Amino acid sequence: MRTADIRSRFLDFFAARGHTVVPSAPLPTPDPTLLFVNAGMVPFKPYLTGEASPPWPRATSVQKCVRTLDIEEVGRTTRHGSFFQMNGNFSFGDYFKEEAIAFAWELSVSAVEDGGYGLDPERIWATVHHSDDEAAVLWRRIAGLPEERIVRRGDEDNFWSMGVPGPCGPCSELYYDRGPALGRAGGPAVDEDRYMEFWNLVFMQYERGEGAGKSGYPILGELPRRNIDTGMGLERMATLLQGVDNLYEIDETRPVLDRAAELTGVRYGADHLADVRLRVVADHVRTALMLLADGTAPGNEGRGYVLRRVLRRAVRSVRLLGYQDPALPELLPAARDCMKHSYPEVAEEFDRISQQAYAEEDAFRSTLRQGTTVLDTAVAEVKARGGHLLPGRQAFLLHDTYGFPIDLTLEMAEEQGVEVDREGFTSLMTEQRERARADARARKSGGALDTSVLRPVLDAHGPTDWRAYDALETESRVLALLGTGGPVTSVRTGGIATAVLDRTPFYAESGGQDSDAGALTGASVEAEVLDVQRPLPGLVVHQVRVTAGELAVGDAVRAAVDPEWRLGARQAHSGTHVLHAALRQVLGPTALQAGSYNRPGYLRLDFPWRGPLGPVARGEVEEAANRALRRDLPVDVRWMSLPEAKELGALALFGETYGERVRVVEIGGAWSRELCGGTHVAHAAQVGVVALTAESSVGAGMRRLEAATGFEGFGYLARERDLVSRLAEQLQAPRTGLPERVAGLLERLKAADQRAEELRGRAALARAAELAAAATDVGGTLMVTATTDADARALALAVRDRLPEARPGVAAIGATAGDGGKAVVTIALNGAAVTAGLSAAALVKSLLGGRGGGTAEVAQGGGLAAGALAATLDALRGMLP
Ligand code: ALA
Repeated sequence: MRTADIRSRFLDFFAARGHTVVPSAPLPTPDPTLLFVNAGMVPFKPYLTGEASPPWPRATSVQKCVRTLDIEEVGRTTRHGSFFQMNGNFSFGDYFKEEAIAFAWELSVSAVEDGGYGLDPERIWATVHHSDDEAAVLWRRIAGLPEERIVRRGDEDNFWSMGVPGPCGPCSELYYDRGPALGRAGGPAVDEDRYMEFWNLVFMQYERGEGAGKSGYPILGELPRRNIDTGMGLERMATLLQGVDNLYEIDETRPVLDRAAELTGVRYGADHLADVRLRVVADHVRTALMLLADGTAPGNEGRGYVLRRVLRRAVRSVRLLGYQDPALPELLPAARDCMKHSYPEVAEEFDRISQQAYAEEDAFRSTLRQGTTVLDTAVAEVKARGGHLLPGRQAFLLHDTYGFPIDLTLEMAEEQGVEVDREGFTSLMTEQRERARADARARKSGGALDTSVLRPVLDAHGPTDWRAYDALETESRVLALLGTGGPVTSVRTGGIATAVLDRTPFYAESGGQDSDAGALTGASVEAEVLDVQRPLPGLVVHQVRVTAGELAVGDAVRAAVDPEWRLGARQAHSGTHVLHAALRQVLGPTALQAGSYNRPGYLRLDFPWRGPLGPVARGEVEEAANRALRRDLPVDVRWMSLPEAKELGALALFGETYGERVRVVEIGGAWSRELCGGTHVAHAAQVGVVALTAESSVGAGMRRLEAATGFEGFGYLARERDLVSRLAEQLQAPRTGLPERVAGLLERLKAADQRAEELRGRAALARAAELAAAATDVGGTLMVTATTDADARALALAVRDRLPEARPGVAAIGATAGDGGKAVVTIALNGAAVTAGLSAAALVKSLLGGRGGGTAEVAQGGGLAAGALAATLDALRGMLP
């Protein structure tokens, strides 16, 4: 049975039993405790805890999941995949244990013709929590399972939680006996390979608190309702129903594995280590595909790092199997073809997905090339000293500068018989991490953004009355002041502090928009606002410097945003949206903003794209943006629910958390529609101009466009115009004729160079004839020695060719300015000299003490101080027979 079929049977079965089919949530989850969805219940968490009321009493889904905690296990065991799909049925306070058990049993053992999976009931085992007599009784009564196939286990195995605070409860698992060929008899407690778990039913009724491990946490209490959360591993069911050994061999992964085997010429099943590597490739390529499809981009932290890691592990595994060329262009399409039946977006978005993946592979390959050279040199040094330990600082350098993961360094060093000083490496890593943390703390408002200090302020005074959308000035009161050491009552002239006001018109940095600048003015104080942040939801804080008088808690102040600053900020932020829309209009929807920053006069936008845009595409983007300004498209801000916004096609940024009501900013209606909390102009022409100033690369597959907006945009264009004017004047050409003028000049320069070269050549030949005529006879051999400031080799050959053929002839020419200011010597012999037993290479070697080489006819050597040249050439006389 194909995986896609197993999937649809599940949904059909539960839909027919009153469950609403809910589509899979994207892998990146807004849940702050997780990077990616790691179980089917994650999107339903608010309904399970009672935080939100469920729209339906029963639901079913096939949820995409990523777990990378046990990434080292991938490929080694038969049942761990970093990407997998979890089929689940959920009851939110509706049915409980009895129905959950009945449903799972019915679907598992019903005949295939009747829509079931047709598993043999005699081979199914169940586990229950040791305290759960009820479940054991139900398995006997409903499924007719004999006592010996109902196993009681403890918290470690049969109590389920997400690993973090949240809903939890005892669970009951179904296992399938895959037969004696795969292991010992005796049930899941004896062998989890032979007995493969395929379905977990969680009877969710408690809420757990903080704590480590599978049982080291407190139970905080009962949930408001008793729920059911089940997870049937889609890949595991496919493994069982397709009769294969492990989940890398099912129809959704095997083609990738086979393609990798074909590329590397390795036969799957012949060698354990090679098999593990092939499985790693099959698993990781698929995981990367699914992560990229859901909008994660490779990066150095968080989600991006997980993706980077699986991509790199895949590429490395293929290399270790002996394939050196770019592998993803061969493998990713195979993964796409496996997954597109269930997830059509992997095919629709494949251009963008593959661009990002291939760029990451390219970048990793050049990292590997550079790093390998550095590592090889370092290893050679260690060995030359007779050592066997690569210093920690070398491993750190490789990690820090060349992006070499430590495990790669360890492995490659080991291959060359050298160990790595891991302790030294770890301590350098720790140092660096501390530095980065200290930096981040120092940057953010002098360290006063500590939430443990701010939380009591928020609790005492409530959320800030935030007026940034409708006011530039407010009458405010100072509620609290925080210095670097904690709360203070006042700050004098010159002092810096974090001020909390009851009400503020200041925009706090967020969504890429920088914070507002402005001032606080009271009866006896003036303070400049340096930074504005929102460290806790609802709480806005200002970093201020007191410029006159004293600022004290309780003061009444006028909080005023600099209107010029705000105008510039609105122009830049609307300009960012305009540029984003223009970019997608020209390049297509894959050019989706991955990051942005804007402040008055300046904006930048990062987006996934392979290779530079080039001047033509850049020009088109700029023009599309400025046309939108010229059409003066209206800018509208509307509040709506997230589903409404999605229905309208508003662009939401992946990984951002949005509340119940979202703010949608439209420029020209559907022309640009984004979820955004920033401040904007009222209509597009107010942006003034969007002038592109730079395009660059910011990591693999990621480009950055920078632009100047508003007055700064005109300033930029004016400076460019002045530059052109100056050049036109200097070159005495009309502005439009500048490129031709410069091209003409370059051509003349090239011609002049060529002519000079020719003349030098002719002069050299003329000199060659003179030198040959003046050859001296050294014991029957004609010899010429001379120096030149041009090409010694050319002159030596020219002189040699002009010596009479019948007698042995040697031409030795020294060039004064050779390599790095050192002199070089070229010796050329004619045929008669070689026949007489002379060798140019031997002569150069004995003349220069080994530094040089060549053939019997022509040889060259160097490394000579310029002053020693004449004496060296003289010495040659004594070496001839
Ligand atoms: N949430 C349960 C699990 O992940 C079903 O195993």
